[in-house]
Amino acid sequence: MKNLGRLTLEAQKDLHIKKQNKHRSKCCIEKNPNKTWDSILFSDYCIFQGDVRNFVRAGNKQEVFDLIVTSPPYNIGKEYEKQIPISSYLQEQEDIINKTIPYLKTGGSVCWQTGNYVVKNEIIPLDIEFATIFKKHNLQLRNRIIWHFGHGLHCQKRFSGRYETILWYTKTKNNIPLHTFNLDAVRIASKYPGKKRFRGPSKGEFSSHPSGKNPEDVWTNIPNVKSNHIEKTIHPCQFPVGLIQRLILALTNEGDIIFDPFSGVSSTGVAAAATKRRYVGCEIVQKYTTIGSKRINEILNGRKTFRDHSLPIYDHTKSPLSKRK
Ligand SMILES: C[S@@+](CC[C@H](N)C(=O)[O-])C[C@H]1O[C@@H](n2cnc3c(N)ncnc32)[C@H](O)[C@@H]1O
Repeated sequence: MKNLGRLTLEAQKDLHIKKQNKHRSKCCIEKNPNKTWDSILFSDYCIFQGDVRNFVRAGNKQEVFDLIVTSPPYNIGKEYEKQIPISSYLQEQEDIINKTIPYLKTGGSVCWQTGNYVVKNEIIPLDIEFATIFKKHNLQLRNRIIWHFGHGLHCQKRFSGRYETILWYTKTKNNIPLHTFNLDAVRIASKYPGKKRFRGPSKGEFSSHPSGKNPEDVWTNIPNVKSNHIEKTIHPCQFPVGLIQRLILALTNEGDIIFDPFSGVSSTGVAAAATKRRYVGCEIVQKYTTIGSKRINEILNGRKTFRDHSLPIYDHTKSPLSKRK
C-alpha cells in the first residue's frame, strides 16, 4: 500500500472532494490485492474480485476506512456458498472480522447486517453469534437496528420471519464518542408535524423538529429486494441500497471511504456513489463484481437506479388486490 503513504488520509479526502466537483470517476475492478490497495488513492470506487482474506492480508493495517458495512454470507446454501457446520462458519467469519477491524479508523463505524441461520427447523439469529465476536474487539455497540420488511417465506410450523438486524459498532479511544452521527441527514417525516405545545413557555409552537424525526432503531419503510424491486439483479440476496444509504448518510461525511468485505453486486458502492463517498468492495464471484461496477457507473453517470431510504412504504390498502372480489 505504498501510495497511501504519500498523502495523508485528510489530503486524500480533500483530493477526492475536489475531483468529485470536477468530474466523476469510474469504478475499477482489480484482481491483484496489492494493486487494489494502491488504487484506493487513484480510484474512488474499486472492487477487488477475489477472497476478502487475500485483500486484508495484503494491506499494512493502516486505519483507512471510515465505515465497514456488509451483509456476510449466511451459510444457508445460496448459489455462492457451500453450507458448512455453524462452528466452522463462525470460525471463518471471526478470522475475517479479526483481519478487517484493524483497518477501521478510530471514530469509524462497523455495521454488520444479518438474518437467521436455519438448521433442522431451528433458527439461530446470527447477530447473537456475531456479537460475541465483536465483543472481543473492544468496540461500542451503538444500536441494534431491526429492519422489518414485508415479504418472504410463509412458514407452517413457526411465525414467518420478517426482520433482520444490523449491529452498529463504533471504534473510540478512551471511551470518548468521536464517531460521526449526522442525524439531520436522515430525519424522516414526523407522525404529527402539526402538533403544538399546549403549555409552558413554548406554548403554541410546533413541538416536533421542523425537518422531521430521528428514524429510530426499527426501520419499517425499506422493502426487501424481491423480483419486482427496481434494484433487483441476478444476485439472490441483495440488500436494498436505501438501507445502506441511511447508514452512510448518518455515519460518514462526503469523501469518507467505505469498505464492504462481502460486496455482492455492490449495493454499498451504489449508496456510496450516490452520496459522494468513496468505496472499496471485495467479492469472490466474478459476475457479481461486473454487475456491481456497472451499477456504480450508472450512478456516477447521473442515473438514479435505486429506491431512496426516505420514501414512505407503499400503502397496500390502495391496491385493488387488497380486497377479495
Ligand atoms: C449476502 S451476499 C452480499 C450481498 C450484497 N450486500 C449485495 O447487496 O449485493 C454475500 C456475498 O459475499 C460473497 N462472498 C462469500 N465469501 C466471500 C469471501 N471469502 N470473499 C469475498 N466475497 C465473498 C458471496 O459471493 C456473496 O455475493
